[in-house]
Amino acid sequence: MAGKGGVGKTVVSATIARAAARVGLSTLVVEVEGKSGLATMFGQQGLDYDETVLSAGGGRAGDGEVRARTLTPDEALLDYLRDHGLSRISKRLVSSGALDVVATAAPGIKDILVLGKVKQLERAAATDLLVLDAPAAGHAITFLQAARVLLDTVRVGPINAQAREVLEMLTDHARCRVVLVTLPEETPVNELVDTAFNLEDRVGVGLGPVVVNGLYDDIPGLHAEPAAAAETAGTALRKGEAQALRAAAAFRSDRMELQAEQVARLADRLPLAQIRLPFVFTTEIGPDELDLLAARFLAEVDALPEVV
Ligand SMILES: Nc1ncnc2c1ncn2[C@@H]1O[C@H](COP(=O)(O)OP(=O)(O)OP(=O)(O)O)[C@@H](O)[C@H]1O
Ligand SMILES: [Mg+2]
Repeated sequence: MAGKGGVGKTVVSATIARAAARVGLSTLVVEVEGKSGLATMFGQQGLDYDETVLSAGGGRAGDGEVRARTLTPDEALLDYLRDHGLSRISKRLVSSGALDVVATAAPGIKDILVLGKVKQLERAAATDLLVLDAPAAGHAITFLQAARVLLDTVRVGPINAQAREVLEMLTDHARCRVVLVTLPEETPVNELVDTAFNLEDRVGVGLGPVVVNGLYDDIPGLHAEPAAAAETAGTALRKGEAQALRAAAAFRSDRMELQAEQVARLADRLPLAQIRLPFVFTTEIGPDELDLLAARFLAEVDALPEVV
């Protein structure tokens, strides 16, 4: 999952995990950037480097299990050293900040540690679906490009092997797809289009459908005259209410016109299927809102023109 900061990558990661669960698939969500609201959306506390079960599988509906974990470069390095029989020195190495020194000398090393671990998780095949909640757009390109850059600079040894295997995973469209997320607004749409072409050209990853998040749903009767509508509904408006309602309706129709323009512009500039998710009016997205988003996601997938 990739996209500009704040467009809803984490919400869409959770939505896809919940949607997958509803069709019986198990999912592991991997978070690379510290604190997010992922756990809260499943009605749980926080995340940790160890896997947490966000929602149990089974039940009457035969739901798939959703698990999640964080993944930082330091922790991935510890794992790597442990797997290679170097656990005695690993703690000292990491706590001494040696990784930062190496990372300065060889940019991309941290990204490859994280992606290498993701590859290991994918290979372990302990889950039907692995969702990686990637860093924001600018960084997503360097993040995913790290393997290619390292392959060019480090020609032999374990880093080369690791980078090659990561690149194999990223460029295998049957194993990995990047889902780009945007809001229906000018700047995020522009950035998404640039990112899409960059990812295809510079990294060689396959793109899934794009997700347009936070769309205002149409409201029947939005343009009705408030006083008449109130009468039909059997109530009367108080002083000033008709004017306030007219202003709110005008605001909403403006906003819907703008979003329709942006959705059309995106379709025009990028020939990828779109999955559209509604803006949910709430202070915090919790399990109920997530269920609603997941249901919409599945309906949108069903409506896609072809299997992508
Ligand atoms: N469809 C939606 N309806 C209502 N609120 C939403 C929706 N999508 C996202 N939000 C809210 O917008 C905020 C940003 O969403 P989210 O954290 O998923 O974005 P992000 O792209 O992961 O951000 P970051 O780049 O900081 O990781 C959150 O407060 C989230 O609850
Ligand atoms: Mg996020």
